[in-house]
Parts: sequence; C-alpha cells; structure tokens
Amino acid sequence: MTDWTPASWRDFEAQQMPNYPDADDLTATEARLSTFPPLVFAGEARDLKSHLAQVANGKAFLIQGGDCAESFAEHHADHIRDFFRVFLQMAVVLTHGGSKPVVKVGRIAGQFAKPRSADTETVDGVTLPSYRGDIVNDIDFTADARVPDPNRMIMAYRQAAATLNLLRAFASGGYANLERVHEWTMGFVKDTKSYAKYEEVARKIDESIDFMRAMGITPENTPALRETKFFTSHEALLLGYEEALTRRDSITNEWYATSGHMLWIGDRTRNPDHAHVEYFRGINNPIALKCGPTMTNDDLKRLLDALNPANEPGRLTLITRFGAEKVADHLPRLIEVVKKEGRSVVWCCDPMHGNTIKASTGYKTRPFELVLDEVRNFFDVHRQMGTYAGGVHVEMTGRDVTECVGGLSAVTEASLKDRYHTHCDPRLNASQALELAFLVAEEMQDQRPQRPRSFAAI
Ligand code: PEP
Ligand code: CO
Repeated sequence: MTDWTPASWRDFEAQQMPNYPDADDLTATEARLSTFPPLVFAGEARDLKSHLAQVANGKAFLIQGGDCAESFAEHHADHIRDFFRVFLQMAVVLTHGGSKPVVKVGRIAGQFAKPRSADTETVDGVTLPSYRGDIVNDIDFTADARVPDPNRMIMAYRQAAATLNLLRAFASGGYANLERVHEWTMGFVKDTKSYAKYEEVARKIDESIDFMRAMGITPENTPALRETKFFTSHEALLLGYEEALTRRDSITNEWYATSGHMLWIGDRTRNPDHAHVEYFRGINNPIALKCGPTMTNDDLKRLLDALNPANEPGRLTLITRFGAEKVADHLPRLIEVVKKEGRSVVWCCDPMHGNTIKASTGYKTRPFELVLDEVRNFFDVHRQMGTYAGGVHVEMTGRDVTECVGGLSAVTEASLKDRYHTHCDPRLNASQALELAFLVAEEMQDQRPQRPRSFAAI
C-alpha cells in the first residue's frame, strides 16, 4: 500500500472531530497514549477476521451488540457482567436455533466517541457544544462540561483496559461455561414469555451436555464447553486516539489498530475522500462500514475498492441501517453492487439506527416492532437475492431500562421516563434483547439449506 501511515488521515478532511481549545495539550496527550500498551493483539484481530470469513461464507453468524455509548459514570462490574450474560444468552439462542457457530463481538471496551447530527445543542435558549461522548466532553449541560478535554482519552483508555480485563476473565474463567446456562438469566426477565422459551433451549443444552459427558466429552477436558471467544469493537471516530494506539505487529510487520479487535466507520464519516476512510484503509483489523439510506451505489463501489482491495473474506462487514420501511428500497441495490463487483462481505443488520423516533413525551426512542421488522425485512431480501444474512448489530444493555417502546415487557411512551439511562441512543433492555434473539434464530432456521427430499423423507 502506498503512502499510508497511522497519521496520513491528517491530510484529509475529517468530519465529527472535536475542537480542542489547547492544541499543545492535545498533542502531548496523544504522544503519551502512544507509549501505552496495546489493548488487543494483532493475532486476536486476525483470529476474529478468520471467524468473520466463515460468516462471509455462510458458515457462521455474527452477533454484535452493546451500549450506544459507554460512560465513565456507569463503569461498574455489575453492568459489564449483566451485559455479558444477556449477550451469552442471545448467542446460545442463536447457536441452538441456527445450528451455526456464533461470532460474538461486543460494542464495548472502547465505544466512547459519538458522532452528532448538530455541532451545538440549545436548551431553554442556551446554546452549547454538543456532547460527543465521554472520551471527548461531559454530558452535563454547562459550558465547562462541554469543553473537549484531551485527558478524557487517557481515562477512556484506562476504562477500556479494565473492562476488557473483566470480559476476558468472564469469557475464559468459567462464567461462560455452558453448564451455567440457566444462571445467566437476569431476575427481572423471569416473568416474561422469552424466559420460558429460553429455559426450553437451556434444558436441551443440559441434555446435550449430559449426553456428551456420558461420551467422555466434558467442560473439564473440552475448552469449547467451558469458555467462549469474545471480541470487542467500537466506532473509530476519534482518529487522534486511534492513531496513538495503532501499532506494527511484530510478527507480520503490518499495522493494526490495538484499541479494539474490530472497528467500524459510522454512517456520517464514510465519505470515500475523507480522513476516516484514509485511516481505515491502512489498518489490518477486520473492519465494518455502516450503510444508511444515503449510501450511493457509486460510493459503495469506491469504498469496497479502498477498504478491501484484495477482496479478503472477513475483512469487511457491511452494517446496513435503513429503517424498517426502507430496507426494500436500498438493500437490494447495495447487494447488486457487491455481486457485480464480485466482492466478499459480511452482511449485518443494524435494526436500531434507522428506527429512532421522538416520543410524545420528548424522549428519543425506538419502537421494538420496527426493530423486529427491519430484521425480518433484512432476512427476506437476502432470501430473495440468494445472499447470506450474516449478522445483527444491536444497541442493548443487560439492565431493565425503559428506552425502546414495546416488546413483551411492554415499555410504553409513558414509562420511558422510569429508567431511561442511556448516554446517547435508546437501547434494548435484557428481555427485548432476548426476544429479538428468538426472532433472529427463527429467521436463521428459514435460511438453512433444505435437506435433499429423499433424505428428509427418511
Ligand atoms: C452508532 O452505531 O451508535 C451510530 C452512530 O450509528 P450510525 O453511524 O449508523 O448512525
Ligand atoms: Co447509537
């Protein structure tokens, strides 16, 4: 690759970047960050890429999820654990329902920087800079809080390191052991219909484990039963932070972003001539690209060329987020571009970002029915076009929040105020997340290749 360095994005127009008042402080902080240890290793990113190549080839399924924005205030072990257990439950439902390995990628341990639709926010006649995520400024609506502060990058790095440490322990230290499949359910989910369905799946897993134990295959001698692989991802929006954590792999000599295993480009910063695309083209991690309704066919073609010139399977995931009603208008044309160019991609559905509305009570929310509809439409289009619906990407939490309306737990517009905690977009709560997983599992069953008739008849 020609002329790329971790800093070459600086020669391009960059959107959504904060205006730091003290340029020297910024430079000094970035220099300090560049001496800190990497958060993830290149070998792990390569491992994820090979799993995603399986997804691209229709042999595995991707689940990606977590907070819209992680916050400094909510950095508690309980939140991380509760997210992780609901995520594991979703993965179990998908693995069982879809009979495929599920690749687990959290929006976590680095998901701090947020793109905004406006640079400023006005409340009661007072106008201040927008909140851009805890890695940039503070959510409080005061002039001081909204000043971008480079030191927040150091705080975000340290929080990401601590979060990742706990996640690694959960993934490999026994918490994810399939024998604990019943224990992952959150108390408040227990009186929903999804819980009964989940317990049914869990019971079948118990039976399989008993059978395998009888055959001599146990969690003690088989790591796949007692631990899981869990990867991290975030939107790599704040390029100074990403540059400081971009390192050369000592084995391959290639550049990797070490702030997370997989990074994505947001829908607002994917201009092929701008800085974010320049940065992404040079890192060797698996990467993703958000595709909203304004993505033109020509832009997609250029982005495929820029971001995956070697057409490496697993390198590029296209996360589509159109809004339930617009999937049929846009997904087929983008699939045509990918087919015509002969490209390998992972198709992943984000049913959240195109379905955001303002409730009559003023809260930003997402009707759960529309979230489900976007997933159904995504699978339908792929079925019709003979392509593989490879994954889902959701904003979710393990907590009992009231941020998205609807679902079996019946959050209403009036109850949104009860437990509306998000720092940015509305998330699915634990029972909505589980309900969604069951829908996805059903859709996955529908896309399983049919057995040959003679065989099915036996
Ligand atoms: C997000 O994932 O939180 C986000 C801002 O998404 P998009 O870039 O698709 O709008
Ligand atoms: Co969001």
